Amino acid sequence: MLCQKQQQQFRCIALNASALLLYSHKNKPLPVEHSVLGGFSNDYSLAQQQRRNLYTSKFRMAPTSEENKSKPIGLVAIDETRRFMTDCFLKSKTSPENSKAMADLLAEADYRGHFSHGMNRLEMYINDLHKNSTDGMCQPEILNETPATAWVDGKNGLGAVVGNFCMDIAIKKAKQVGVGVVAAKRSNHYGIAGWYTMRAMKEGLIGLSGTNTSPLMTPSRSLEPALGTNPISFAAPANNGDSFVLDMATTAVAVGKIEIQRRKGEKIPLGWAYDEQGNMTTDANLAFTSGCLAPLGGNELTSGYKGYGLGAMVEILCGILSGSLYSNKVRKWTHVGSDAEADLGQFFIAIDPNCFAPGFTDRQTDMNNILRNLKPVDPSKPVLVAGDPEREHMEKVDKEGGVRYTPNQIKTCEELAKRLNIPPLKFNS
Ligand SMILES: NC(=O)c1ccc[n+]([C@@H]2O[C@H](COP(=O)([O-])OP(=O)(O)OC[C@H]3O[C@@H](n4cnc5c(N)ncnc54)[C@H](O)[C@@H]3O)[C@@H](O)[C@H]2O)c1
Repeated sequence: MLCQKQQQQFRCIALNASALLLYSHKNKPLPVEHSVLGGFSNDYSLAQQQRRNLYTSKFRMAPTSEENKSKPIGLVAIDETRRFMTDCFLKSKTSPENSKAMADLLAEADYRGHFSHGMNRLEMYINDLHKNSTDGMCQPEILNETPATAWVDGKNGLGAVVGNFCMDIAIKKAKQVGVGVVAAKRSNHYGIAGWYTMRAMKEGLIGLSGTNTSPLMTPSRSLEPALGTNPISFAAPANNGDSFVLDMATTAVAVGKIEIQRRKGEKIPLGWAYDEQGNMTTDANLAFTSGCLAPLGGNELTSGYKGYGLGAMVEILCGILSGSLYSNKVRKWTHVGSDAEADLGQFFIAIDPNCFAPGFTDRQTDMNNILRNLKPVDPSKPVLVAGDPEREHMEKVDKEGGVRYTPNQIKTCEELAKRLNIPPLKFNS
């Protein structure tokens, strides 16, 4: 048996070995004005990087002088974040109910520390609504239903509106027959996948959800991106408010992290992205312009095909099952919005653990404790379970009385407030 340190060294060797395995591919990549890249601003990267300081390697974290210059400023209470975003949606052809659903989703993302999918995305949704590529007023509709399943037409509604509708059906069915499985077509970007799985978890159920997204992931051995960052989330309740909430993209890294390395003029680690010739690259500029993200696991030698498989599985449960667009048929998405309907597919599953062995939450609590109490490699970095980093971020926000946004994000909010004629974002300090 290898000890923990040996296992870690082995992983490092495998990763370095993968550096030698530079792929050459048959075809030219798709032209990438990868607009989708525009969806992840520096705002995300800075805040996320800072959050990760707590948990990850120095390589990812060490702030440069440039990064220091644009450190987050301006503390905003979560309620004010929600108020501002609700106002923006209300002025963008969206019903009060739907505006609230979107603001709740986006505020939760910032609260949990996933800044890429909170206020950072607001402008894109607003632009889509003004271009009429998303319908802010509509309500989804059930197309076909059995006791345990439902097929839903999102009718091009906002992501949270479709997602909440679908997960609520799954929850109802799970409570009635033990499981609820819902697939939606004609949906839009639905933010953090964990929002929906935690909705089921709050009802004492296990939640599972995923969405397809604009193509950015390059499958193992491919020169072209053909799957999105296709996130998946799994949430399970434990005792006394504890839980296990896995919520992750199926690509090796979010594209915003490449963007920040590029801005800092620093390299990216091997395993994140490919250049336009299909070689793994450490050049952040090349990675950014190619728009070819590696699947979770990176290269083939480091089992990237497993991340590719996971991303494809999400695509099957979303696009293929629901009859929405899928793979490279999904549109690209930009900060200026899109003229085309997204027609994304999403799936939502709720499972009632009470249909199985009694004492689920006791065992889940026990397992969490076993994992958290494992001897850490570095005593200053305890072993975590999925959801712990977000929990720590929320505690920090509560302690400080709000979320800190970067100057870039604040500037975007000022512009939005003027454009939509709403009260600007108010700061605590
Ligand atoms: N809607 C979309 O199109 C879309 C696309 C991609 C990502 N997303 C969302 O973006 C968010 C961020 O995704 P991500 O992949 O960057 O997440 P991430 O890498 O920050 O975290 C992934 C998961 O790992 C867990 N985790 C982190 N560090 C850990 C540690 N040391 N030990 C144990 N668990 C740990 C987290 O709790 C989380 O559940 C998610 O909410 C995801 O749903 C949405």
